[in-house]
Amino acid sequence: MWTEEHRDWTEVDYKPLAQGRAFSSDFMWGVATASHQIEGGNTNNWSAFEPGSKSQQLSGEACDHWHRRTDDVGLIKDLGVSHYRFSIEWSRIVPAEGEWNQEAAQWYSDLVDELLSRGIQPMATLHHFTQPIWWEEQGGFEREENIHHWVDFSTRMFALLSDRVEWWCTINEPAVFTTMGYVLGEFPPGVRSFKRARSVAMNMMKAHAACYRALKAMEHGEKCEIGLVKNINLFDPYRRWNPLHWFQARLLDSMFNRCWIKCLKTGRFKPPSALTSTTIPGLKGSSDFIGVNYYTHLLTTPFMPTKVEIDPLIRPWEQRTDFRYPMYAEGLRRAFEMVKGLNIPIIVTENGVADDDDDMRPEHIRRHLQITAEAITDGFDIRGFYHWSLMDNFEWAEGYDQRFGLYHVDFATKQRTLKESGKVYASIVKSHRRPQLVIMAGGLGTRLGEMTKTIPKSLVEVNGKPILTHILDWAHKQGCLHALVLTGHLGEQFEGFRHPRMAVKFHQEASPLGTGGALWNARAHLEDQFILVWGDDYHPINYTELMNTHNEAEAPLTMCVTQAHNEMNLKHINGLLESYDKKQEQVDLNGYEAGTSIVEKSVVLNHGKEGVWSWEETVYSELAGKAAIHLDNTPFWDMGTPERLALLEKFLKESTP
Ligand code: GAL
Repeated sequence: MWTEEHRDWTEVDYKPLAQGRAFSSDFMWGVATASHQIEGGNTNNWSAFEPGSKSQQLSGEACDHWHRRTDDVGLIKDLGVSHYRFSIEWSRIVPAEGEWNQEAAQWYSDLVDELLSRGIQPMATLHHFTQPIWWEEQGGFEREENIHHWVDFSTRMFALLSDRVEWWCTINEPAVFTTMGYVLGEFPPGVRSFKRARSVAMNMMKAHAACYRALKAMEHGEKCEIGLVKNINLFDPYRRWNPLHWFQARLLDSMFNRCWIKCLKTGRFKPPSALTSTTIPGLKGSSDFIGVNYYTHLLTTPFMPTKVEIDPLIRPWEQRTDFRYPMYAEGLRRAFEMVKGLNIPIIVTENGVADDDDDMRPEHIRRHLQITAEAITDGFDIRGFYHWSLMDNFEWAEGYDQRFGLYHVDFATKQRTLKESGKVYASIVKSHRRPQLVIMAGGLGTRLGEMTKTIPKSLVEVNGKPILTHILDWAHKQGCLHALVLTGHLGEQFEGFRHPRMAVKFHQEASPLGTGGALWNARAHLEDQFILVWGDDYHPINYTELMNTHNEAEAPLTMCVTQAHNEMNLKHINGLLESYDKKQEQVDLNGYEAGTSIVEKSVVLNHGKEGVWSWEETVYSELAGKAAIHLDNTPFWDMGTPERLALLEKFLKESTP
């Protein structure tokens, strides 16, 4: 153990990353921010401290995100990510003791709705370095009696948002908060005292445990994932032959990393520099996942600067980031190893780089994603990766001098511009995502008995929820974030329908148009490429494999064909459709169109027309010799008759949790 791996990155093959093969389709792709760093106009412990901080820069308007929320959510969406981590500014919600600012709370609730409506899952952090001045004046985390104020704020936010927010971080980087604020004096309150740092550390873990237990006991508590976010800073001996350098590395590692991680497992916490450990009620097992923020390693000697101004030592081959510490992606693997023993899912809640001219960031992103992908292959349970940060922002003691964003921010005009690295991240993310899902949901349940004569089949409940929900659940697992549901002319019946994870849009027609007419009618809402499925069929195939066939064939349309069906309706040869025969008049048919296909929008535009027409009968014949065939014998489940509906019900009962 404790080897300091360095690899030759010129040898690494990034193709799987670029081609969407490095991560599973349900991997959480995110970007992260924190309230005080982007919102602007905050009054809290930080705004009070800023005039005396190292850079003396004031956060001021920051990115003015408070007034640009909707546009900024658009920027997140443009990156193609599925998750967004933000923090809730306690000082806005509770500006004075006992006061509750409903408007501010509503702002976060609206943020959540805006994210969800774009298919982005929110992750909320309850403490990210900032706290109200009234609470700071009472001693903040130095006094145990103060904890209940923060837990109270947390439970109220949880009550407001947990019906929509599944992911929660209690405290961001307690070790950084404690060290920077109470040992190095770089963060508020600018203290240098081990004694005070010990109380703060202890109370932060008490607060975390109390918060976790309180939220878990609330409505939605069980279904939400609540965890601590730990910054892991690696410490390596500068001279590996020097026992003093080793001693220092081990000491700092135990103080900054190990004691914090260990306490989640044992429930006993020995704060840095303390001699004894204390059992904290509720601490043991108080994290459903562990958030890992990883930036770098530090090389240790007994004479390390305790002032951040002095350049840290680096290896000769390492590249310094603007923060002066080196880029060391190999260390991310070691960070994973450090938390592995907790036996809970790992999420990279922050990773990024200060890089003003954006010449390091693309490689920084690739390396850290590569390390993450390899660790997953080696069995680590890593669920997601949040890039720090969405946009350049107020970097605490460094003010605006350190730029971490995927979007450049001009702090005078507040204009945001996507950087090259932002394009790199977006393209990796998008290569791992599946396209828009289009669902043909127009048909009525005519053969399903009296009751369903007037309701669309896709809304018929099977195993506790509409078949439409099952279809969306499957598509989301396969990496789709957006769905367009073509409701035929009975659109009103879909009013109020929601899916917890997918952004779903509905499109209606004035009178029945047939399958082709419905697509033509909705062409303005189709993305350049989409997955087409039927709203009364459950067809759980692997979309990634279907996409691979489609990409290799470079076809305008790729249809999924099964050979395990009692009927046949098409003939295919050499991976291409030769003829489609819905009426099954031909004798040498060798496949059955199973219902899921990938379509280039150009097909709709080139083959479509006004009026009533059938998609299959028109387009499939016109694409004979051109449409690609994806062979997959996964059964599809339709619900055309009560007997088939019963079979589907049984299948879902057995196959879904
Ligand atoms: C983390 C912190 C973030 C951000 C980042 C970059 O420690 O959580 O707020 O500032 O570092 O230095």
